[in-house]
Amino acid sequence: MNQVSIGIVGSRFAADLHLRAFEKLRGQKVEILAVCSKNRESAEAFAKRFQIPRVYTDYRQMLDQKEIEVIDLCVTTNLHHTIAIDAAEAGKHIICEKPLTGYFGEGKVSRQTMMEEALKNAAAVSKAIRKNKVKFGYAENFVYAPPITKVKNLMNACRGTVLDIRAEESHSGSHAVYSREWKTSGGGSLMRLGSHPIGAVLHLKHYEGLIKSGKPIRAQSVIGDVGHLTKMESFQKEPKKWMVDSWIDVEDWSAALITFEDGSKASILSTDVSLGGVKNLLSVYMSNAVAQININPNNSLVVYSPEGSIFGSEYITEKVETKAGWQFPSPDEDWMRGYPQEMEDFMEAILKDRNPISGIDLAYETVEVIYAAYLSAETGKRIELVKKQDE
Ligand SMILES: NC(=O)c1ccc[n+]([C@@H]2O[C@H](COP(=O)([O-])OP(=O)(O)OC[C@H]3O[C@@H](n4cnc5c(N)ncnc54)[C@H](O)[C@@H]3O)[C@@H](O)[C@H]2O)c1
Repeated sequence: MNQVSIGIVGSRFAADLHLRAFEKLRGQKVEILAVCSKNRESAEAFAKRFQIPRVYTDYRQMLDQKEIEVIDLCVTTNLHHTIAIDAAEAGKHIICEKPLTGYFGEGKVSRQTMMEEALKNAAAVSKAIRKNKVKFGYAENFVYAPPITKVKNLMNACRGTVLDIRAEESHSGSHAVYSREWKTSGGGSLMRLGSHPIGAVLHLKHYEGLIKSGKPIRAQSVIGDVGHLTKMESFQKEPKKWMVDSWIDVEDWSAALITFEDGSKASILSTDVSLGGVKNLLSVYMSNAVAQININPNNSLVVYSPEGSIFGSEYITEKVETKAGWQFPSPDEDWMRGYPQEMEDFMEAILKDRNPISGIDLAYETVEVIYAAYLSAETGKRIELVKKQDE
């Protein structure tokens, strides 16, 4: 086998990112055979745009196609676990967007119940992929972002102790309708945005443990807080809104403090109330070195224009409110964020029968940390995580 055949589920924002990430692999390691969306028109338009031969509106029909080897999940988060389990049972390898899963039930239940249900969903995916011996690529692009890869090399070289990591993903709110409600998104800014820096921080501590003692250093306890800042009275009174404010029952501000089993700490901020473009940032404080990771914004290119219209329709960077003034356009934003690199790794993992760098364990632990932070925010207490046995 030297080529992998893929069926993609979802035909909007994340699907678009994935198709762009597959671009250089297509015709060589990758063949995109089909796209599925519950909206036929959207699936057909997507298929036409990316020259995909088959269109489905029911993912189960896609699972029946023998020649499709991988199901790539770019659907709303509430559907990840069900489709992933069905795909595994059909013997398909899986690529799954972040976060793996969560709690999506109706009605008011405690955060304790939410955490238990979310972990049940995550464990069910893990069980199904192990039982059916299929690969699971957790599409946490931060893991593959070039600055993170370089920091891992530097950690390996300097062998310092990672004492403190501070990480953030923030912007001014998602475009996607599913993100407004817990029942489709499983949470707010912590779930949607925080999953990225949490995934990166967990990955770096796992990596540190693996290079030093052959065992990942895992998260041990979590303290969290959340806020609904666009519900503040003074914000609501303002006539012009520069950020998304149509959140139904999900937070738009969050903080999580993670303590690892070696005593080190990480602090994560993720908010939907941050103007000025996407912030994807990490600082890694080691005993003998410091690394400052600026995925976005970064200053590899800085431009200035006195008026927003001067650069016309040329893309600058995600979610800036204006193109005027000083700007930080990433020359290759997808590459800087690790999207093509993650797809390359997933394809190689399948072709060479090895585990991907970002897999089910990272996906599971990210869900655990997120929901522990939600539980902590509700109870005001530090949440101890259940100790895992390494396989
Ligand atoms: N890695 C990243 O940077 C990144 C960026 C954006 C979104 N995401 C993740 O990707 C996922 C999708 O986000 P999005 O912004 O593309 O959402 P979206 O709402 O824009 O698109 C969701 C897609 O799923 C399809 N869909 C919904 N129900 C379906 C069903 N039952 N069967 C088949 N298709 C169905 C919709 O038709 C649509 O095409 C989310 O989990 C999100 O967290 C990741």
